[in-house]
Amino acid sequence: MDDVTDTVFRQIVGNCAPPDIYFTEFVNVDGLQSVGRQKLLKRLQFTPEEQPLIAQIWGKTPENYYKTAKEIVDGSFAKELGLKNGLNFAGIDINMGCPDKAVLKNGCCAALIDNRVLAGEIIEAVKRAVEEINPNFPVSVKTRVGLKVVDLSWFEFLLKHKLNMLTIHGRTAKQMSKVPADWDLIGEVRKMRDVLCPETKIVGNGDVMNREQGEELAKKYKLDGIMIGRGVFHDPFVFSAESPWETYSKEQRIELYTKHVKLFAKTWQNNERSVKTLNKFCKIYIQNFPGVKELREKLMNANLTDELLMLLENKKASLSD
Ligand SMILES: Cc1cc2nc3c(=O)[nH]c(=O)nc-3n(C[C@H](O)[C@H](O)[C@H](O)COP(=O)(O)O)c2cc1C
Repeated sequence: MDDVTDTVFRQIVGNCAPPDIYFTEFVNVDGLQSVGRQKLLKRLQFTPEEQPLIAQIWGKTPENYYKTAKEIVDGSFAKELGLKNGLNFAGIDINMGCPDKAVLKNGCCAALIDNRVLAGEIIEAVKRAVEEINPNFPVSVKTRVGLKVVDLSWFEFLLKHKLNMLTIHGRTAKQMSKVPADWDLIGEVRKMRDVLCPETKIVGNGDVMNREQGEELAKKYKLDGIMIGRGVFHDPFVFSAESPWETYSKEQRIELYTKHVKLFAKTWQNNERSVKTLNKFCKIYIQNFPGVKELREKLMNANLTDELLMLLENKKASLSD
């Protein structure tokens, strides 16, 4: 998730209860193949702990997808990011689902649902790069069930491209996140998969709040996997079979946030990421505290990680008084 699941948060969640597969935030291929490369590359930063990790890409130009896919598969990006011993990404995922207005206006992500020519060129560009270097390197697509209306012909099209995996968010782009995800539709796509391309793994996504719920849905619709996004905002142990989060004390929650902020400060030493991106997480950890509103306001107004750490330390001390 953009500005959420960077290497720092992936490590925090991984230490709580790791998912079976991690994804990077989506990274723009046109930016990566421009002068903006160094800045964008940081979005792909990872550590040996976050494995297997799939690099998610988006953009407009097939040629830039081709070049980027090559650099992912041959390990150039991983090396450039300082990873050693041949450590690399485990796959490439193409984002064809983001409903952001600016992104759609530019004809990218979910807009590709209604532009099959470009969507096909993009998938083939990535597959060509992969085949030239390592034909076994997985290529997948994450998408929605339609742009403005539900359109299952989109999946007929995607399944013809013999992807390794297809993640389906059970809403149209127009629906954003305003209506419940339609898992029956995800089940329909799985049935299409059985006929059209049995080797493509089908992953369902939308509104899953814990592992048990995810496993039930996977069983009900005979899916190969479940993707959880916003569930991490409610429980950093969301991937665990039995989350201890409900029983976490206020001190333990502050300690986990402190760990998060310290790792953020250590990882992004040169302001590669604004401290303000931490505000997205404040509510995860700071809940059900005395004076919670005031505390969150102070935390969210902090401009430096040191300031945040001081506030958290003071709060922790006041709780043990
Ligand atoms: C803040 C935010 C950022 C997101 N960024 C991405 C992204 O970079 N790539 C992606 O595939 N989906 C992204 N998504 C969508 C989620 O992955 C997921 O499809 C959606 O939230 C529905 O699943 P959920 O109910 O489990 O969250 C983002 C969602 C949110 C809320």
